[in-house]
Parts: sequence; structure tokens; C-alpha cells
Amino acid sequence: MAQVVVVGSYNQDHAWRVDRFPQAGETRRGGNFTTGPGGKGFNQAVACARQGARTAFIAACGDDALGAGARALAAREGIEGRWQVTAAHATGTAMILIDAAAQNQIVVALGANEQLDPAFVRAQVAMFADAKVVLAQGENNLDAVAAALELGELHRLTRILNPAPVHPRLDAVLLRHVDILTPNETEFALLLEHIAHERVDPGRLAERTDTDLHALARKLGVATVVVTLGARGAFVSHGVNRRGDDADFYRVAPERAQPVDTTGAGDCFSGSLAAALVFFHNAPFLRAVAHANRAAALSTETAGAAAAMPTFEAVRRRFGV
Ligand code: RIB
Repeated sequence: MAQVVVVGSYNQDHAWRVDRFPQAGETRRGGNFTTGPGGKGFNQAVACARQGARTAFIAACGDDALGAGARALAAREGIEGRWQVTAAHATGTAMILIDAAAQNQIVVALGANEQLDPAFVRAQVAMFADAKVVLAQGENNLDAVAAALELGELHRLTRILNPAPVHPRLDAVLLRHVDILTPNETEFALLLEHIAHERVDPGRLAERTDTDLHALARKLGVATVVVTLGARGAFVSHGVNRRGDDADFYRVAPERAQPVDTTGAGDCFSGSLAAALVFFHNAPFLRAVAHANRAAALSTETAGAAAAMPTFEAVRRRFGV
């Protein structure tokens, strides 16, 4: 039985290397082109499974070759997949540009992912029965995400939402059903604007004081908020429940890495955090966050999204336990 249930997206990623991102109207010569498995949900499920947690994945794909490939790949990764196969919509795809600094720009055509039926999610209720964590993102329709959180609540799972990308209809009511929120800087700024009507510059968030960041995070109404700050590590903000930590809020320093491709690093963080909450359930929350931070740093040293997720052993070898 699964320890972590991921409800999320699968996309086939098409990635091009560029020296720099093109400007509007500009055509640039690209370097190497690759295609491979991605989608925030699938990347997080692979990250979680490779960290050693028994992982289930509930998703939608088209009745096409990409969907068949995704289902076979999930099985090879040891992930228990529940796929809603839809003939009317194609498997999701993503166009990714990666520049010389290993940063990316992504456009997604979500296709079947947006058709994930909340009734299909609810029909998988048995998967939630023995699980500890449910993890969802923003690449499905919000009703499917709400159904995942609902089942999580029913079975008293820890409910993690990685609000990526921020769904235009995501509101404070849905956030009330989330235990741990894992936005990056851009998503955090967008959520603050949508939910708390507070405008902040995402590029300057990491420079703000911890007290300031904590006060901002508290405006989202979620018990624990973990803002991933890319090469600047992460920031944790707890409400009343500190999850075993000594402090209400703190930063986690970045780990050293030589990035070649940061695509999916945030996914690696959320998927590894879900797994680490299972292994380190008696330890302070910081233990799980530190592990996720290490796994995410390591993922940037390999090209690709799902393919770049490190194993638990690789994280241990690199950083120790
Ligand atoms: O987070 C990276 C992912 O975003 C890619 O794999 C792409 O498919 C998009 O969903």
C-alpha cells in the first residue's frame, strides 16, 4: 500500500538549450534538443519513489503513444499508477528553454491533465487508506485537487500542495484544506497578491528579513509554508503547529551544486519532502526539509525533469545522512 499518494500531471517535455532566452519577435538558434518525461505531478511522484517511499500516482493522459509511454514508465519506476485515459484529449506536453545559466522558461499544453475527473480521484479512495501524505500541484483542474485534499482530510493524511503553476481560481477556501504549502518565490508573490492583496517583488523576496517573510507567509492561512528560494535555499514558516521544530520560522541554507538544468528542482523538493516526512516522521520538520533541499540541489546536476530525480542513496552519498 502506498505511503504517499500524488495526484498530478504528466507532460512530455520537449527541451531546447539556448545561450539566452529570445526576446519577443526574436528567433534564436538552439543547441541540443531532448524530449523526456515531465509534468509537475509525475516529477514529484518519481522524486518521492526514488527516495524510497511507496508511491501511488493518480493522473490523466490521452489515449495516445505518449500516454502509453507514461504509464509504462511509471510502472518501471515502481509507482502504482491509476490513469484516467481519455480519447478526447491528448497527453500533456511542455516546451522548455534552458539557458546557459541552467535557468528555464516553460510553456505547458495541459491537455488530458485538465480533464482529471474529481470522481475518478474519489474512486481511488482505497489508496489513501494507509497512506501518510497526499501531494497535489496546480496542473490539474481545481476540483480534482480539491478531491485529493478532501480524501487526505478523510484519512488524516498530511496534505501538501505545491501551487505550481498558481491556478487562477485557487482561493483561500481551498488553502484552508492544506497542511503544507510549497511555493517558489514567484508563486508565493502571486498567492500573496491573489489571497492577501499584498504586492511583493518576487525577485527581492530572499533579501527580506525572516520576520518579514514569516508575517507574509502567515497571510496565506496555511499551517506551514515552505518557500523555495532556488539557489538561496528555502524559508519555513509555521503557524501554531511547529511540527517538532524549535522555531516558528527559519531559513534552510542552499546546498552546493553545479547546476546544468534546474527544470524540476522544485518538483524534486516537494516529492522528496513528502517521502522524507514518511521516513523522518519522529524527527523535527527541519530534518525532512533539509533532506528535500539536498535532493533538489542534486537534481539540478542532471539534465531533464523526471529523469534527473536522484535516489535516496545518491543523496546520502553526496551529503551524508
Ligand atoms: O516543473 C517542471 C515541469 O513543469 C516540467 O517537467 C514541465 O512538464 C512542467 O510541468
